[in-house]
Formats: sequence, structure tokens, C-alpha cells
Amino acid sequence: MAHAVNTRTKGNRGPVTGTATGQRKRKPFLLDLYSTSVGKKYVMAVTGIVMIGFVVVHMVGNLKMYLGAGDFNHYAEFLRELLVPILPRTVALWLFRGGLLASVLLHIHAAYGLTRVNHNARSVKYQSERDYQVANFASRTMRWTGIIITLFVLWHLADLTWGTLNAVGTNGTFVRGDVYNNVDRSLSRVPVAILYIVANIALGIHLFHGVWSLFQSLGWNNPRFNKWRRQLATGIATIVVVGNVSFPVAVLAGIVGN
Ligand code: HEM
Repeated sequence: MAHAVNTRTKGNRGPVTGTATGQRKRKPFLLDLYSTSVGKKYVMAVTGIVMIGFVVVHMVGNLKMYLGAGDFNHYAEFLRELLVPILPRTVALWLFRGGLLASVLLHIHAAYGLTRVNHNARSVKYQSERDYQVANFASRTMRWTGIIITLFVLWHLADLTWGTLNAVGTNGTFVRGDVYNNVDRSLSRVPVAILYIVANIALGIHLFHGVWSLFQSLGWNNPRFNKWRRQLATGIATIVVVGNVSFPVAVLAGIVGN
């Protein structure tokens, strides 16, 4: 890889990859960039920002459950009616879903690619001594918290969007559109409430390191901003975890639900 000989003369811009030589057919620029570690890190950072935006907005939207069934169900309907009549009902929602799904898949694909690059390059030392400890801790936990979040989201969709797991272990049934009672039914099951709490703590850890590292990935890593970066990472992670953990606790405490 790094020992490939660059046969190009000075002044001629070569492909982004260090592996490329004159004999290789050149890929489109974005694919060529994505085949490098820097490109993958960019993709992780940008898709990470999209997903951070989603989890923050999703948590804030879910706070509506504290206003009661009417307001919460109305909010869920509002999401389906977004941009009507410019677009037909649910089209804007499906566009968001498409963007979100693309971000999730790209984020996981780039993460997998970077893990493979790291495994193949054990002899290369981490470049920035200053961030070594943070990066080291992040790389040890990010994969596992990422896997927990992915499994949680699959459960969560089956629970509250598709409804297949929503009523398991209860006497009720999932009712599409009655989001308030679906949440109440689901989180009244203690093991499910615990699952939500554990998954959201994993999400908080992932978010903390993700927000911290995305500045590094985008090249905004001036040490002068480290304090600010840490505060932002702590702030976003804390807001999301406190908000999201409050929902199962509120249901179990009888503050939300019937
Ligand atoms: C206790 C915390 C949470 C609660 C109470 C909650 C609640 C809900 C509800 C009620 C829905 C269905 C909305 C509807 O049908 O209109 C939903 C959908 C969804 N949630 Fe959550 N959620 C929580 C945490 C999370 C987290 C942490 C993530 C991601 C990491 C997440 C990702 C999603 C996704 C992707 C959907 C599908 C959205 C769609 O396609 O319409 N949720 N959530």
C-alpha cells in the first residue's frame, strides 16, 4: 500500500489514492476519494451530522408525549402531513427516511472499511499524540456501541413503526396512528424499558465520541478548540440521553400513559 511507487512526474495531479500508479484506470473523483481513509472519515462525519440532527429532533419531538395523547398523536400525524399540499401526504417523510437510511448504510460501510484499513496497518502510529487517549478509547468502544444502536433501532422499528413487537407480552394490540398508547404499551414492559435505557446510554457514549471525532475527521482540529469540542460533545450526548431515558422512566412512573 504505502510502499507503492509513484511514477508520476511533479506538477501532474494524480489520483487521490496512494496505491494508484499510471497503469490503473482512474475512478470517478468521489469514488476515488471514498477509497481513501480521509474520504471514509469525511463520509462518517457528514452522515454522522445527519444522524445527530435526527436523534436530537426525534428526542425533542418525543417530548410532546408529556403534553398528552392528543398532542403527541397530532405531532405524529403532522410528520406524515409535512409539506402537504406541495407534496402528497407522507412523501416528505419518505424522502427523509431515504436520506436517513442512506446515511446509516454509508456510515456503517465507511466504519467497516476504516476498521479493515486499521487492522492492515498496525505498524503505522497514530499521527496526533495529543488526541491519542481520546482516539484510543473511542476506537475501542465505537464499534460495540454502534452495534448496540443498530440492533436497538431494528427492535425499535419493529416495536413502534411496524408494530410487530409492540404488543408481545401485553393484552393489547398495536394501533397505527395511536402513537401515544403504542409507546405506553411498549415501555410499560419492564425488560423493554430497561432495553431502551441501556441502548440510549450506549447511544450517548457513541454520540460523545462521534461529535468529538467528527471535528478531527473534517480537519477542524486546532487544539484551541478542544475545550469547546468537548463541551459540545458532552452537551449533545447529555441532552439526548436525559431526554430519551426520561421516556421509559416516565411511563413506568405513570407520568405518561393511562
Ligand atoms: C425512548 C426513546 C425513544 C422513543 C420514545 C421513541 C419513539 C418513537 C416512536 C413513537 C416512533 C414512531 C413514530 C410514528 O410512527 O409516527 C419512532 C420511530 C423511529 N425512531 Fe424512535 N424513539 C426513541 C428513541 C430513538 C432512538 C434513540 C433512535 C435512533 C438511534 C430512534 C429512531 C427511530 C426511527 C429511525 C424511527 C422511524 C421513523 C420513521 O420512519 O417514521 N428512536 N420512535
